[in-house]
Amino acid sequence: MTKPVLLLTRRLPDAIEARAAALFDARTNSADDPWFRDGAAIAARAAQARAAAILCAAGDPMDAATIAALPASVRIIATFSVGTDHIDLAAAKARGITVTNTPEVLSFATAECALTLMLMAARRAGEGERIVRARAWGGWAPTQLMGVTVQGKRLGILGMGRIGRELAAMARGLSMEIHYRNTRRLPSALEAGAVFHDSDAGFLGAIDVLSMHIPGGEATRKWLNAERLALMRPGSLVVNTGRGGTVDDAALADALRAGHIRAAGLDVYDGEPRVFEGYLGLENIVLLPHLGSATIETRDAMGHRALDNLEAVLIAGGAPLHPVG
Ligand code: DGY
Repeated sequence: MTKPVLLLTRRLPDAIEARAAALFDARTNSADDPWFRDGAAIAARAAQARAAAILCAAGDPMDAATIAALPASVRIIATFSVGTDHIDLAAAKARGITVTNTPEVLSFATAECALTLMLMAARRAGEGERIVRARAWGGWAPTQLMGVTVQGKRLGILGMGRIGRELAAMARGLSMEIHYRNTRRLPSALEAGAVFHDSDAGFLGAIDVLSMHIPGGEATRKWLNAERLALMRPGSLVVNTGRGGTVDDAALADALRAGHIRAAGLDVYDGEPRVFEGYLGLENIVLLPHLGSATIETRDAMGHRALDNLEAVLIAGGAPLHPVG
């Protein structure tokens, strides 16, 4: 039997490319050539290959124009990500194209990344590392680079999904008190003692650290704006490992410069890979290049999850395991 054609937009871990090649007529992009940045190029390759499926990744422009240009042969788009804000789900649905994502397997790794950023911001780790690398460290000093402890502080989790709950579990081990804001209150077993807030003002005014875990898209665009930053307690920390568009960059940079926000840690940016210029000169912000799920174990698990979905639909002829939209 001829294998269905699968177009991979990005270089994926070796084990995933090998499994893709075993299951499908896989058209890989093992050199990570940048055609994946161009929706027209993705559609043209899909048409040329008569692809039955596309395995894309976070940031690929799978917008309405790209989806409209896809050949009729494409039945499923499996994204190597939990986030789907790079895909126009309505456009895919209108064309009868199934979309799947990779939930659950990256929750722990992403929470680890949020924890890393929180600790780095609290303990001024980025500043310290820069001093050492610049050969500018003059030796231990009683008042050098004093940060703040997170012990006993209130961690506010915005978006208490799987990632938020993993972070809560980690932060309890640091003796932090957990608060959360969510579209709805969780059952008490999932809440595990965390304090639910039903208003932004109550939530932001109660916490010392804000960790953002909300999806991107128009509904959450610039959620953390000047007004909400002003509701936060002076000296608070901000961490974002969700999507960059949820932060008003100019407002956060102003708050960091003024010291109202003591420090921030970001892993995601509006318009990645561009990073807001106003952050680059600030010492009190830690900037990571979207590393949330970047562990060897997690990236393999994400790839297998994407392939499980493709296999279920294209080979077993059944329903996708993790449909979205
Ligand atoms: C996701 O899965 O949405 C991440 O942002 C990429 O790891």
